[in-house]
This record gives sequence, structure tokens and C-alpha cells, in this order.
Amino acid sequence: MSIPTRNVILTGCTGIVGSHVLYELLKERISKNCLGKIILLVRKREGDSAMQRVERFISHEYIPSFLKAYSLNQLMEWIEVIDISFESNELANALHPYSKIGDCHVIHVAATTDLRSTEKAYDQNLKTNYQGTLNLFRACQSFTSRFTYISTVYSCGVKQGTLNDEYSKIENFSFRNPYEEIKQKTERELFQICNERDIELQILRPGVVLGRLIDEPKYYVPKYNVIYAFAGFFFKLLSQRIDVPIDIVIHPNAHMHMISVDYVAKTIAKVYSMSNVTELNIIPSKGLGKKYTAMLLDVIGYKNYNFVSEPHPPRNEVEGMYQMKVAPSFGTYLMEDEYLFDNSRLLEIMGEDSIPDLAKEYRAMIQFAKDQMFKGLE
Ligand SMILES: NC(=O)c1ccc[n+]([C@@H]2O[C@H](COP(=O)([O-])OP(=O)(O)OC[C@H]3O[C@@H](n4cnc5c(N)ncnc54)[C@H](OP(=O)(O)O)[C@@H]3O)[C@@H](O)[C@H]2O)c1
Repeated sequence: MSIPTRNVILTGCTGIVGSHVLYELLKERISKNCLGKIILLVRKREGDSAMQRVERFISHEYIPSFLKAYSLNQLMEWIEVIDISFESNELANALHPYSKIGDCHVIHVAATTDLRSTEKAYDQNLKTNYQGTLNLFRACQSFTSRFTYISTVYSCGVKQGTLNDEYSKIENFSFRNPYEEIKQKTERELFQICNERDIELQILRPGVVLGRLIDEPKYYVPKYNVIYAFAGFFFKLLSQRIDVPIDIVIHPNAHMHMISVDYVAKTIAKVYSMSNVTELNIIPSKGLGKKYTAMLLDVIGYKNYNFVSEPHPPRNEVEGMYQMKVAPSFGTYLMEDEYLFDNSRLLEIMGEDSIPDLAKEYRAMIQFAKDQMFKGLE
């Protein structure tokens, strides 16, 4: 049987999800499941070229063990790095040399994950997550056959009951923040333009992403955001010897739908070559309840908190900081009654018992982040 060729344009490989998608794409090539270039769109950073950043992400001590046997040079043989942002006006020119490459898939992972409800956050989400995505689509549309867009399970806004994968059929939305609203707007626009141009579209939506649970070394992530930023807030207070009462507004039956980054990446790497997947949520059916938020605070060691059901004006400066900085982004996800996901299609693709048991390892997962002092790779 001949080995298929899949050339991939990947964005976001310097982030949590994208770096793990890159590891999986490398794995499928070194294990000869497919051939083809991995073309990375990466922007430079102060003091670091795009190439240096990529090299760092595939050679640090916490890369998955399945890559450890390969040298940097061996891994780089599969990779081409383009020093550019997917938002750039120069993107079409930069991708022109690849326009005849054939068998080309785009996996668009990069995004801002600014969950705040400010005007600035709205503008940033619109520019990066909507206009940037359309910019990338336009630059690739003449030579790609499938566009895989990584959205979020929360692009449906606030919902109740049991949700299925088909957000394209939802008519009414109530969004928690511009991040969700603009992810949904982008999904809708992509459906329309892919349909008009006869390009296959995949919308894949992870839940809240945590560290690795399948591949060693476990628990690793290159960046501590979203739920880790919540934990990091309390960690920072204690490291500054600040220990004042803070009320955390939480629904008594709040459940967070969290998933390990390697499971998300393995799903993306499996699905991007499948033509019969259009919308897929990457999520356990049931989330982890309030006691896991208590467990997180216990691991951090912050005891001076209370769970309350109604917001109130801040009683001290630090509680004010919590209400201003943490509650408007991550905190909003703690304030709703439980809802469920019908993830039967995910399990059909990935296997009935494929989702790693986060509940069992949640304490160790947060402990790992604490031991790393919430310091990411860059
Ligand atoms: N983390 C979660 O819990 C979660 C949950 C659901 C869905 N998602 C989705 O999963 C995807 C990846 O999220 P993540 O958590 O991996 O994010 P992340 O760790 O913050 O990484 C974001 C990536 O996007 C790139 N990026 C951001 N803004 C950019 C811009 N203006 N131009 C070029 N590159 C830019 C970053 O590049 P630089 O390193 O150069 O900044 C980085 O590679 C996103 O689409 C997100 O919406 C994430």
C-alpha cells in the first residue's frame, strides 16, 4: 500500500494546542503513516527568529517521549518555517511558492484567547480570530482542498441541556464574551465561503485544555493560560504573602468540561485527513464539578476563599483585583448550571474509552503547574 502525502500548513505551533498538533504531525511522518511537508506560519519575537522559536518547541526537555529518539535535524527535515503572521497582508505572497504543492491541508490553530469583555478584547478578537482567519483562508484557497479550523466548544455561548456537534444549526445565541461571539461569527463565515468555493471545511472545538495525560512526560503544557491563569492568580498572591478573604462566585452545580492537550492534538491529527467530519466537539460528555475547583485551590494552598452564589462589591483591594481581572474571563465559566455534551461521534472516531480520566489526575496536573511556578516555555 502506498503511503499518502499530506502537506499541511499549520498555524499556532508556538501555543498549547498547536505545539502538540505539530508533535502529532511529526509522529505520523516519522512512523511513515504519511509523507508531506509541515509548513509552519510563525512570527518572530524579541530576540528570537521564527526558526529559533520552532527549534525550541521541538527540542526542549518536555517534548513527548515518542520524539526523543530523533535529533533536531531529523525532525526539521519535515518542517518549513515561514516567518509571518497569518494576519499579514504579505501572506498570499509568502505562500505563493507553495501554490502548486498539491494535497495541501490547512490546520488553523492560532488565535487570541482573550476572554475579557472589554472593547479592546473585542477589537483584538475581531482582528485576529475573524479577519486573520479570513486572511489565511484567502491566501490558501486556490491550493487547499480542506480547511480545518480550531474553534472552541464555547462558540455556542450559554446553553442548557445536552449539546451536539452541530452548532451550525443553532439559531439563537447568548455569548459570555467577544471571544465566543467572534469564534461563532468566523465559523459561520467559513461555512459560507467554503461552500461557495467547494472547499471542505472542518470545525473542531476543544473544551478547556489542560496538560498531557497520554504521552510522557505527563501534565506538561508550554503556556499556563485559561484555568491555569485562575490558579496562577492565587499562586502569585501566596508567593507575595498576600492572604486575604476572596469570594468566588460559583454555581453550586457548575461543571467544567476539560480535556488533555494530547487528546485534543491526537483527535485533530486523526480527523484532518477525514472527509466525513465537518463539526466535532473534542470534549468529555460530563464536566468536573465544583469540588475540583476546591481541589485546585487546595493544591495551590489558598485557603482564605469562600464559594458564594451571588456577586457583591469587593471587600478589599485584592478581591477587587480578582473581580476585575479573573472573574470577567475565566470566572464566567463557573457561574452556570451543569450541561452535557453528546460526544458519541468523537468516541466513534477515537474509541469508546479513549478520553483520559482527568478526574483521577487533576490534583497531580495542578501540582505540576505549581511546581513549574506557572512559567511557560517562552
Ligand atoms: N486553551 C484552551 O483552553 C482552548 C479551549 C478551547 C479552544 N481553544 C482554541 O485552541 C486554539 C489554540 O489555543 P491555545 O490555547 O493553544 O492558544 P495559545 O497557547 O495562546 O497559542 C496561541 C497561538 O496562536 C498564535 N497567535 C496568536 N495571535 C496571533 C497573531 N495575531 N498572529 C500570529 N499568531 C498568533 C500564537 O503565536 P505567538 O506565540 O507568536 O503569540 C500561538 O502560537 C485557539 O483557536 C483557541 O481558541 C483553546
